Amino acid sequence: MKSIESLENIENKNVILRLDLNVPIKNGKIKDTNRIDKIIPTLNFLVKKKARIIIISHVGRPNGKIVEELSLEPVSLCIKNKINKEVFLLKEDIFSLKKNDIFKNSNDQVVLLENIRFYPEEEANDDKFSEKLASFGEIYVNDAFSCSHRDHASVSKITKYIPSYCGIQINAEVNALNKITSEIKKPITCIIGGSKISSKINIIKNLIPKFNNIVIVGAMANNIFKYKGLEVGNSIYEKNIGNIIHEIFSYAEKNKCKIFFPSDVKVGKKLNDRSIEKELGEIENDDIILDVGSKTLIEIKKIIDNSSTILWNGPLGYFENENFSLGSSEVANYIANKGEKIFSVVGGGDTVAVINSLNIKNKFNFVSTAGGAFLEFLEGKDLPGIKALY
Ligand code: 3PG
Repeated sequence: MKSIESLENIENKNVILRLDLNVPIKNGKIKDTNRIDKIIPTLNFLVKKKARIIIISHVGRPNGKIVEELSLEPVSLCIKNKINKEVFLLKEDIFSLKKNDIFKNSNDQVVLLENIRFYPEEEANDDKFSEKLASFGEIYVNDAFSCSHRDHASVSKITKYIPSYCGIQINAEVNALNKITSEIKKPITCIIGGSKISSKINIIKNLIPKFNNIVIVGAMANNIFKYKGLEVGNSIYEKNIGNIIHEIFSYAEKNKCKIFFPSDVKVGKKLNDRSIEKELGEIENDDIILDVGSKTLIEIKKIIDNSSTILWNGPLGYFENENFSLGSSEVANYIANKGEKIFSVVGGGDTVAVINSLNIKNKFNFVSTAGGAFLEFLEGKDLPGIKALY
């Protein structure tokens, strides 16, 4: 990949910088700034080179519509404080925006376009939209490893229309993950949780030949309960994927990979409820499964004890409510306290938020900003955003 660090004369050039500023935001407040902290070196590099920076990012999944709660306003304020420079949030419609109107004053150096997923053309990887975005600058830089698995206009298609480079963070992550995956020690356990079931369920099958154990937790596990004919009440699950689960189990058996899923859970009637521990057969129609139970935690700890490498993506429960955060925090602390006995790699916005909230980030061997992209990288897939930079 051609690196941004090889760029010499970029003074006054418009650099389009794709970042993944998809950070957890609640009531307008950023809950974890890890993804922002990681790209500050790239921003400072471009600022020092006197480039004019047009940042593009998404937050959440607004499905091509304007959703006020998913505005990048809090993110622009946060970046402004971190780089000590004015950052202007541009809310103008991209289709009517012209290159010369982006920087209002000649001294302005950093603008942030409003959530790019407010436009359906972004996820549709639309040609015209990509070309329009490219017309705003002279150089494109991707420093968004965590969304480089998305074949989206501002991630991959844009590179068709403009000279493209990789940023400092994406380079560091790809190099580190390449090294880790080539030197990995068995037995290897992958813990997969979180709520992005549709993105991750297809990945599991491809991970099976590479791992000794796959621990499926969080909302991901609800699909297994459904497949086993168990009640999941009001919990989220993905419809019509029984055949995928079936394939996962039979493929795992063939490859001698153990698939583990919870045997007990914690439920509430709503997200901000207190927690009640239940056996799987006891779930009521209006229960929402929001964490793993205590028996499950004991089992997961045993699996960790018998592993040399742990790769973890996705919380075990709805950790935003402390009544359902025990599963995630117990597993995080347990891995962290293993010290040198285990090689540990953690990835994903929410998972990193968990270990940050416990102040144990430096106890893991590698912390990736990426969740889904991290898993697809482990699968050995070519990520569209990375491929486009070669
Ligand atoms: C992430 O948080 O993993 C990235 O920002 C990608 O988000 P997505 O799964 O909504 O595409």
